Amino acid sequence: MKSKVLILDDDTMTLDMLENALSASNLDLFLENDADKALSCIKREQPNVAILDMRVPGKSGLEVLKDAKKIDPGLSVIIMTGYSPTQTAIEAMKSGAYDIITKPFDLHNLKRLVQKALESNLLSRKVRFTGNLIQVSDAEHNEDLMIGSSPEMMEIWKMVGRVADSEATVLVTGETGTGKELLARAIYSNSKRRNRPFLAVNCAAIPENLLESELFGHEKGAFTDAHSRRIGKFEQCNGGTIFLDEIGEMSLANQGKLLRVLETQEFERVGGNETIKVDVRIVAATNRSLLSMVKDKAFRLDLFYRLRVITFYLPPLRDRQEDVPLLIDFFLRMYSRKHGKQIKEICAGALEMLKGYYWEGNIRELQNAINSAVVLANGNVLTEDDFPVINNSVQGAKIVEQLSDGKSYEEIFRNVLRPMIDGICRKHNGNVYETVASGLEKALIDLALECSGRNQVSAAKLLGISRNKLRDRIERFGLHGGNVS
Ligand SMILES: Nc1ncnc2c1ncn2[C@@H]1O[C@H](COP(=O)(O)OP(=O)(O)OP(=O)(O)O)[C@@H](O)[C@H]1O
Ligand SMILES: [Mg+2]
Repeated sequence: MKSKVLILDDDTMTLDMLENALSASNLDLFLENDADKALSCIKREQPNVAILDMRVPGKSGLEVLKDAKKIDPGLSVIIMTGYSPTQTAIEAMKSGAYDIITKPFDLHNLKRLVQKALESNLLSRKVRFTGNLIQVSDAEHNEDLMIGSSPEMMEIWKMVGRVADSEATVLVTGETGTGKELLARAIYSNSKRRNRPFLAVNCAAIPENLLESELFGHEKGAFTDAHSRRIGKFEQCNGGTIFLDEIGEMSLANQGKLLRVLETQEFERVGGNETIKVDVRIVAATNRSLLSMVKDKAFRLDLFYRLRVITFYLPPLRDRQEDVPLLIDFFLRMYSRKHGKQIKEICAGALEMLKGYYWEGNIRELQNAINSAVVLANGNVLTEDDFPVINNSVQGAKIVEQLSDGKSYEEIFRNVLRPMIDGICRKHNGNVYETVASGLEKALIDLALECSGRNQVSAAKLLGISRNKLRDRIERFGLHGGNVS
């Protein structure tokens, strides 16, 4: 199918010129001189790229851009402007334009720009589901789809379009669950290497000495358990792409070996002398700050420089609320089908609750929340009650928010204690203070440990008490203390 390009300009000469320039590019061109007709064309034809003049009768180019983006958020729009474009450019880019071009323009540049805008659009159609115009068929609706139409994600799709085909090493950063692995796969499946292997290695899941042989292989007898020669991931993946997840967990020795592969594409198997040459593209991911690891001498500076040439930062979900409804819609369909349910919607209250939630575990947490809600739900519409954990946490956060309006913890505990106080006094006569105060202390410390993933250092910091004091209380109350590092 040919790609479609819409051009809107009220100047016939410009239209003719663009038609001539682009006619050889195997595109279906739609020429319009009126804003409303152009918008109807976007609805009807779903073009991949639109080139819009800033000044057309009736509407400003910016208005057309905004309306066009409402119809199809994934449309790549190039804005043509005849005057100093600074403010226009900022506003147009904010409203989701792909790029700006100033008249008079060089036709070669324009053609290149259209090509790039087209690639970005094709990519976003492949990896994005908007929930309205571009319906993704059930067959395409799989777990490899990547969704988002927030400005942050649009920038990411554009950048994927720009770098996928290059051979450059890519670093993907972002909090846990933001989609780093999915993005790595999107880069791979849009690259020239898509018909070659893609192998993922999680550097945190494999002990340090085994990681070396996992990546680079070993010779027979290289160490006690090396009964035969083993080919490592780099060799298996020759011609392909290797995804090194949690690269921050790699030991300094392995980092050195990796740097050499990046620089010369060469390495030796563990216990071997033969130098092996491979052609592998590396995509690495981390949820830790490599820069602060460099400062702590836990990550090599030279490797950091090599890796960060092209860096993607996936923003946390809480910073791109507009993606939440799209993701909910996507996961709702996915899990309804999977669990054989007929749930099509989420009620407005629950949607608002999920939009405002903190999502510490980002998209993975949202995905799991929808999965269990779909399993638990009785009706056809998800409500707040189908998200009990989130609902409780949101209610709790509201109570704490209100504390600044004159309420205090004292009032909260007074309300909790009041209905029980007679019973407490009867049962613990002579020991009321110790019983209640230590009960509160035990609950608080246990919850703080839970919030810190049972890490004592973080829990002590969170509580603002010394580690000795925390250890003492864990012992005294018989709490599950977790780990100390
Ligand atoms: N934009 C997205 N659209 C749809 N699903 C997504 C998106 N981003 C992430 N997911 C889903 O969320 C889950 C977590 O994604 P992924 O494993 O890529 O995150 P991660 O950043 O690698 O997390 P971690 O740091 O914990 O390894 C996966 O199930 C993935 O399919
Ligand atoms: Mg991951």
